[in-house]
Amino acid sequence: MTYARILGTGSFLPEHVVTNADLASQVNTSDEWIVSRTGIRERRIARAGETTCDLAERAARQALDAAGCVASDIDLVIVATTTPDRVFPGTACLLQERLGIHGPAAFDVQAVCTGFVYALAIAEKFIRTGSTKRALVVGAETMSRIVDWNDRSTCVLFGDGAGAVVLGAGDAPGILSSHLHADGAYKELLTVAATEPLQGAATGHITMRGNEVFRMAVTTLDALVGETLAANDLRQTDIRWLVPHQANIRIIAATAKRLGMAMDQVIVTVDRHGNTSAASIPLAFDVGVRDGRIQRGDVVLMEAFGGGLTWGSVLLRY
Ligand code: COA
Repeated sequence: MTYARILGTGSFLPEHVVTNADLASQVNTSDEWIVSRTGIRERRIARAGETTCDLAERAARQALDAAGCVASDIDLVIVATTTPDRVFPGTACLLQERLGIHGPAAFDVQAVCTGFVYALAIAEKFIRTGSTKRALVVGAETMSRIVDWNDRSTCVLFGDGAGAVVLGAGDAPGILSSHLHADGAYKELLTVAATEPLQGAATGHITMRGNEVFRMAVTTLDALVGETLAANDLRQTDIRWLVPHQANIRIIAATAKRLGMAMDQVIVTVDRHGNTSAASIPLAFDVGVRDGRIQRGDVVLMEAFGGGLTWGSVLLRY
């Protein structure tokens, strides 16, 4: 039996830090409001001309180094992003060219904030079938490009960044299970309508019904966590680390509570990164690995929720 295992991780954040105080000088908000409602204190914003692929490349190179791989070892490239550099080619193709990988399949996954969980689950299936030996799986975003900087209800939430893992074939798991879901009936809750030339929509910016998204996130993640534990015949105490999508500390805390986990078993980056959509889980995972909290052999639950609506989890042994 072939399993898929994370061989190495990497991440990258743009240099420019935007604090809540910075935002309060542009829109009618305050550090107190943002911190109490979301847990976010600051976020990174890409500089002019710095693209999703630029961030992805930095994270990918670090993950390749950590995995002890060179570009020619990679036989699948998947980039989860909702802010691609171009309509086409996909950002995975642009990244492939930057890294000097020629020939193997490369494609983007668009599942918004659940994108990295989808991408990891897809890569795992390629490895399990034997068609892939080493996959580069990246979550990268420049959310700042689709944020309406005049809308205080959304502009305080998002940030830019990238995270990456190299997934390799091995004899022992690895990824234990993945659970992917979507329901397009909720498409209007959180969306970027297409820009004018494509669909005649009014804007190319994020619009969100925040309250409804919040309630859906908490109830959906609650069910998802139960589904993941049941599928693996695990108890809550078998999970060492929760690496959640970093949207809002109150949503994260509700999921941790459902799992009976203390907050010191949760990798939290939302305070420093904001919501980096598909990049948030691989960024947080890399932070936990590099600071020594996540150790080889630990059981880790990744879970995410986002526009679509989409939601999903990956349970793995690191
Ligand atoms: N600063 C100050 N006031 C703000 C504000 C801001 N940045 N954004 C909104 N407000 C105001 C609203 O205008 C509203 O004012 P009103 O009562 O005068 O109309 C008030 O705060 C309450 O707004 P509401 O939307 O009910 O606040 P909330 O407690 O639901 O918090 C969110 C808003 C966005 C923080 C919260 O709904 C949330 O986190 N939702 C989930 C969002 C998310 O995670 N999305 C991504 C999923 S991947």
